[in-house]
Amino acid sequence: MTKTLTAKPITLDLAGRTVSTWGYGDAVPGPLLRATAGDFLRVTLDNRLPDETTIHWHGLRLRNPADGVPGMTQDPVKPETSYVYEFTAPDPGTYFFHPHVGVQLDRGLYAPLIIDDPNEPGDYDTEWVLVLDDWIDGTGTTPDEVLEKLLANDSGSGGMGGMDHGEMDGMNQGAMDEAAPWGDAGDVTYPYFLINGRPPADPETLTAKPGQKIRLRIINAASDTIFTVALGGHRMTITHSDGFPVEPTETDAFYIGMGERYDAIVTLEDGAFPLVAKPVGKTSGGQAMALVRTGSGAAPAADANPRELTREVLVGSDLRPVQAAKLPSRTPDATTRLTLNGSMQPYEWGMNGAPFGENEPLTVQAGQRLRINATNMTMMTHPLHVHGHTFALPSGLRKDTVLMAPMQSFAIDLDADNKGDWLIHCHNIYHAEAGMMTALEYT
Ligand code: C2O
Ligand code: CU
Repeated sequence: MTKTLTAKPITLDLAGRTVSTWGYGDAVPGPLLRATAGDFLRVTLDNRLPDETTIHWHGLRLRNPADGVPGMTQDPVKPETSYVYEFTAPDPGTYFFHPHVGVQLDRGLYAPLIIDDPNEPGDYDTEWVLVLDDWIDGTGTTPDEVLEKLLANDSGSGGMGGMDHGEMDGMNQGAMDEAAPWGDAGDVTYPYFLINGRPPADPETLTAKPGQKIRLRIINAASDTIFTVALGGHRMTITHSDGFPVEPTETDAFYIGMGERYDAIVTLEDGAFPLVAKPVGKTSGGQAMALVRTGSGAAPAADANPRELTREVLVGSDLRPVQAAKLPSRTPDATTRLTLNGSMQPYEWGMNGAPFGENEPLTVQAGQRLRINATNMTMMTHPLHVHGHTFALPSGLRKDTVLMAPMQSFAIDLDADNKGDWLIHCHNIYHAEAGMMTALEYT
């Protein structure tokens, strides 16, 4: 597959409001890229932005030079220059891509990437790709200004004082979502939440026939928002988590953290239904919504609140892997520790006790099974993301991004089968930029 992506400033129409932002091509999300497992991809990034950028292929176990991390796997791509990404996509699944420079992701630079399974035709009539986002740009405030403001929100401790205790003093208790185990998960106030670049006042309409079986591929490209996803009047059967097959699990709703992807099958009823992604713990900005229509009936309101949203909300890490997707059982050759540290006030985030650049990288030798004992030592939820590898939770569930609740600990195992220098970071883009990253290095 050969393709050129142009990153450039664009304007968008959000339900009648024209906003200026950055995108891949002319729309947000950018164009869907699609290939088959084992395919070789050659994608040229043509940078027409006024800033340097890169592309990171989120979740793919690809060759290190194509991973898109400036200063680690490549030099940043300067304005008016281009860069060619060449890699093989080994595993089928639902992925996406975005820059790995600053908080550019929050400007709208993201698009879905689907790797098809040549051996699995898929038992459904059609599929819909749904990309969730929290939208801030075009409101007069850029994501970079938001980050600056968050970083300035510093009571002056300097250093990492208090980090090991993750103090948050319940300052955002009011915004906590009763139904969620997560507590606070984001710091940024967004004016809109979007599905496929559309706000609920002008939702994307997905049409099909009653009784049709749809594969939903849901991608959370938000920078700072966990969502609860439900389709009014329907149960969903989750079939894949971060691209990997799971034991099919029926639910009314599920949580999806930043950087996570879930695939679900639904059999559609007759009528018009809201597909809602409700931000967890955020009280302004409404919600994200698409309209599913198989028959007549009034379109749901922009604030539609299907009862499925709160009845039974599945936590992705409770899913069980299918046997074929499990890592072969093996005793770890090496064990290491990873702590997530920080606090919102002062706005300081780090891993292993220090921000990125000051913390020690995790190290591994090629061929080892590495066990990482991870602990979230903060009072917020963080999506933990590992580049270039997938990891197994204690249940065997394979993921590349996993939500860690406040003070939660668990071990993740990975096989060191992809040489290079890789990032491990929180997929809250603001936390990552403030230092909640570390490296995984092969020695
Ligand atoms: Cu989407 Cu470094 O990640
Ligand atoms: Cu975080």
